[in-house]
Amino acid sequence: MNITCSMAVSSKSGNTKLVADALQRELTDAGVRFVASFDLDGAAAESARSEGVKGAENVKGAEGGEAVENGQSANAAASTLATQASEADVIFVGFWCDKGSCSPAVQHFLQGLAGKRVFLFGTCGFGESDEYFAQILDRVRAYLPVDARFIGGAMCQGKMGMGVKRRYEGMLEKDPENAQARMLIDNWNRAQSHPNEDDVSRIAVAAKEALEGIVE
Ligand SMILES: Cc1cc2nc3c(=O)[nH]c(=O)nc-3n(C[C@H](O)[C@H](O)[C@H](O)COP(=O)(O)O)c2cc1C
Repeated sequence: MNITCSMAVSSKSGNTKLVADALQRELTDAGVRFVASFDLDGAAAESARSEGVKGAENVKGAEGGEAVENGQSANAAASTLATQASEADVIFVGFWCDKGSCSPAVQHFLQGLAGKRVFLFGTCGFGESDEYFAQILDRVRAYLPVDARFIGGAMCQGKMGMGVKRRYEGMLEKDPENAQARMLIDNWNRAQSHPNEDDVSRIAVAAKEALEGIVE
């Protein structure tokens, strides 16, 4: 496959990064060429965003490039990243589900992908429903410029923090009959084993199909 790809990932607690790394390995083994990878929420970028003054994003060339800093506004830094990512034919964007959508870092990045082919993949706390995954993907892809081409997407469940479980347990302590709290705890327990190998394979299959679609 003579297509070049780049991988851009935002991962708060590691689930999406794990999927991104496994996906990149699997696609590379299948002959897909990744020319760059981008960390959408490096420490410097995060502080730039919260200060809203200076941006400094990490850009890492897949073939041994070094971290590059640029000092622009946070949004401009996101679009600089997008421009660099755009040198590839296809941009893979990995995101974690933040309140039903993606984080602001990912939103800004997506907005800079005018004219590009984009594959979206993400992890979220609630899983096992294709409709739920599709809703999130629809919300996230809406950040793409109108002339970007969404070539496909896939999602899976990802484990959540202990604080989330404690909150659910607190709900149950207050009201032992609270069926929703029980459901949330069950879901939290199920999420602990995700992302797993099946999740990665499913996302890799969707990615390969999307790439085949653009070479045909
Ligand atoms: C602030 C915050 C908001 C979240 N909002 C949602 C949500 O709306 N829906 C959902 O299914 N999961 C939600 N999650 C769970 C994460 O999307 C999930 O744990 C994901 O796998 C985290 O990925 P990461 O490890 O790459 O950061 C939220 C997590 C956090 C921390």
